[in-house]
Amino acid sequence: MEKFVVEGPAPLQGEVTISGAKNAAAAIIPATILAQGKCIIENIPNISDITVLFKILRELGAQVRMLDKSTVEIDTSYLTEPVVPYDLARCMRASYYLLGTLLTRCNQASVSMPGGCNFGVRPIDQHMKGFEALGASVSIDSGMINVHADMLLGAHIYFDVVSVGATINVMLASVKAKGITILENCAKEPHIVDLANFLNSMGADIRGAGTDVIKIHGVDLLHGTTYSIIPDQIEAGTYMVAAAVTGGDVLIKNVIPKHLEAITEKLEKAGAQVEEYDDSVRVCRTGKLKKVNLKTMPHPGFPTDMQPQMTALLALANGTSIVTEGVWDNRFRYVDELRRMGAHIQVDGKVAVVEGPCQYKAAPVRAVDLRAGVAVLIAAMAAEGRTEIENIEYIERGYENIVEKLIGLGAKIHRTVEPKITLPEAL
Ligand code: EPU
Repeated sequence: MEKFVVEGPAPLQGEVTISGAKNAAAAIIPATILAQGKCIIENIPNISDITVLFKILRELGAQVRMLDKSTVEIDTSYLTEPVVPYDLARCMRASYYLLGTLLTRCNQASVSMPGGCNFGVRPIDQHMKGFEALGASVSIDSGMINVHADMLLGAHIYFDVVSVGATINVMLASVKAKGITILENCAKEPHIVDLANFLNSMGADIRGAGTDVIKIHGVDLLHGTTYSIIPDQIEAGTYMVAAAVTGGDVLIKNVIPKHLEAITEKLEKAGAQVEEYDDSVRVCRTGKLKKVNLKTMPHPGFPTDMQPQMTALLALANGTSIVTEGVWDNRFRYVDELRRMGAHIQVDGKVAVVEGPCQYKAAPVRAVDLRAGVAVLIAAMAAEGRTEIENIEYIERGYENIVEKLIGLGAKIHRTVEPKITLPEAL
């Protein structure tokens, strides 16, 4: 089992370049299935979730070819299969976007119930509600979600909850539906706008992405395109917090500062300095950290995917901070790991009370999910001693070259492989 070994404390200093957005790529790659022709996608993050998506597309009959380390050419002209293999689909959340795209392309799709991080119940009722409103039949059988429609017809759909996944999936299913589809109470995350821009560059007619209401005029044909994915807002935010936690000074390049506003605001309140440039931000911290209250909300609120990292920071701040999780039922499982390192945090349901300041100390810890794992890693860089982090595959699902990027900033981190225990042969 591979581990990260981190020697702390070490202030992060220097420059880091942010990769393409995981959650945008996770929607755009399945969307290439809608094209009549080749798509070239630039700024692809080199992370394991995306590798799984490429495998799925190949299994379905698509040709996927890396042109360089962050550019892929995808040709789905000869796609044959509307059934996504169970083993691959269950590895990740975004496999469910293949329901929307295959339904549009093949009039049917079967995808296993999706995997992804465990934050309690992760229903997909709003996806199904949207598909059914467009005229599809939906059934769940032996762990597979099956959708079918002879014809998709535009509809007026009001989402009962603000859901990134449902907004994206129903957009994918309605882009070629006959007539007009109006989606209300939509999620507004930057990657929703990115997907709409990608689809429009293929010839779709989607307006309003990034607002509550998205209007889609169904088109007959979508052509191939060349498109560059936006930078990853959460990867950028993670390096911003890491710079502040370690008392460092980091220039974070290839970002869209507007997407980082909610994070910048909380970091400044906590005592960090943030300077914004056209496509970079510089974060440094010299003084003491101060308490801040925060509640995660759908965009443009404070992103839930930054909650564990900010909690790791607030444990070091003077005073009591209240962190409220407003999106997921159970996203504080990592708190036990931070406590092992010396944090004083009590959790009651969706609220964490963080009493600072603590001094992090090295301890054996594990990543319980992607952002939880990176929060522990951030704490380890501020901790005295040598921290070993297990289950690092969670972290590598979402952060490209994280070890190399952190070493470039002066962190003392390396990856180990545990020697396999070989038992003597039975006599
Ligand atoms: N919800 C429903 N019904 C649905 C769908 C969602 O009740 O049909 C509820 C969920 O239970 C949750 C809330 O709505 O309480 C929001 O869920 P959403 O659908 O927005 O989340 P998601 O699409 O499954 C994406 C990201 C997550 C990120 C959330 C919220 C991807 C692949 N995943 O998940 O990213 O936390 O949006 O911003 O895009 C991560 O990157 O670490 C990550 C977990």
